[in-house]
Amino acid sequence: MNFLPDAVEALFPPHAERKRIEEWLTQALQRALLHIQAGPVTPTIDMAAFRAELETFDFGRPRPLEELLRWTIERMQQGIVQMANPRYFGLFNPGPNFPAQCAERIVAAFNPQVASSATSPAAVALEAHVIRMVAQRAGFPAQSEGHFTSGGSEANYTAMLCALTRAHPQFAADGARAFAGPPVFYTSKECHGSWVKIAHQAGIGRSAARLVATDGTGRMSVPALAEAIASDLKRGCTPVLIVASAGTSSAGMIDPLPDCAALAQRHRLWYHIDAAWGGAMIASEKLRGVLAGLERADSATIDAHKWFATTMGCGMFLIRDATTLPAVFQVAASYMPSHQASVDPYMNSVQWSRRFLGLRLFLSLASAGWAGHAAHIERAVEQAAKIRQGLEARGWSVVNDSPLAVLAAVPPPELGSARTIVERVLKSGRAWVSLARFEEREVVRICVTHGETCEEDLSVLLDALTR
Ligand SMILES: Cc1ncc(COP(=O)(O)O)c(C=O)c1O
Repeated sequence: MNFLPDAVEALFPPHAERKRIEEWLTQALQRALLHIQAGPVTPTIDMAAFRAELETFDFGRPRPLEELLRWTIERMQQGIVQMANPRYFGLFNPGPNFPAQCAERIVAAFNPQVASSATSPAAVALEAHVIRMVAQRAGFPAQSEGHFTSGGSEANYTAMLCALTRAHPQFAADGARAFAGPPVFYTSKECHGSWVKIAHQAGIGRSAARLVATDGTGRMSVPALAEAIASDLKRGCTPVLIVASAGTSSAGMIDPLPDCAALAQRHRLWYHIDAAWGGAMIASEKLRGVLAGLERADSATIDAHKWFATTMGCGMFLIRDATTLPAVFQVAASYMPSHQASVDPYMNSVQWSRRFLGLRLFLSLASAGWAGHAAHIERAVEQAAKIRQGLEARGWSVVNDSPLAVLAAVPPPELGSARTIVERVLKSGRAWVSLARFEEREVVRICVTHGETCEEDLSVLLDALTR
């Protein structure tokens, strides 16, 4: 006789019911995707009505799941900028690749806890393998390691903690107080904004971020960097880290990576390369030369959820000498089932409970190969070149000379300002582009992020930009 209450059916429905709903959901999502790809890129939702609708969810009265799923899909079709639309020329957020979407389903079904190698030995080993392969492809030595992160910001934060920990043996115990003079670090004024937040989070303060001038082309000025370090040393500050960008967020510019490496070496500073988006270029034999110097970094950020086109929440932190990671993150926890500092993710990364992040990149790399990812990248670069030609033929100028797939474009005066053009394009819903600042001027930022963008989408974009 069973004295236990039954499982809550709404949370754990019987097998046949799950199967029915999963099949329905698969069909519904396929229909929604076709709809999204043909429809407007920008949200069409009436937000006042949506907020009012949300108020009706006081969670007092359970509703049927199928009805809720239908409602959610409909609202998602109207209520977000559609990254899955091939006319999203956006902020590095990709149309998600299919193997990564399959991985999401598997991870959701098994829900492994990837904090510990004892709990999820296969998942931990699989992630470590992918990281090693990516690090080697990036030119790092064979013993290099790293881990998956929630995204580029977490990977960058990890680099900061490694730099501070290596810079002073007492940092781990005493924090910023350990340093004789205030710790400072260097990156360009075109860097990703995460670096300023990271300075705050790490306890060294936002003023520790030295935002070095660029050279007029969006790349960090090496003389300005050298001067900033010299001046800080004279003032009694303690330089700890140089961060070079390999693909700036606004214009895809690549800092002079070998020169930054040389300066870091001269001053014995940690050298990190933030290649959150541009790092995927390692896939392409033809184009990877633009990242020359990446292999000299102590650590690097590459996001799978950018140009590797996995679903969101899949970054990577790569590190040349992995012994620094346990020095930062090691901790005693008697209740954990394993305690290997070099293996267990909870002992060598920011996160504790950890989702099986890396399966998405594993399935995507394993099914498409480096060659598939190379083709994905090369086609985007080719499309950016086509857009550039189209714009120049219409009197625009492109003011960044990035080898990646992003354009910083300035319209001819008769079309109005970059700002008004971006507003007009977004209002039309025909495409999504953004306003950015590049070398002190407002530009229309156009980035090819979707792997299925085709010739017709480019025509729609050019039309939307010019009329
Ligand atoms: C160069 C660069 N670094 C870091 C980040 C932050 O990455 P995430 O948004 O994945 O945290 C971005 C995001 O666009 C980026 O462009």
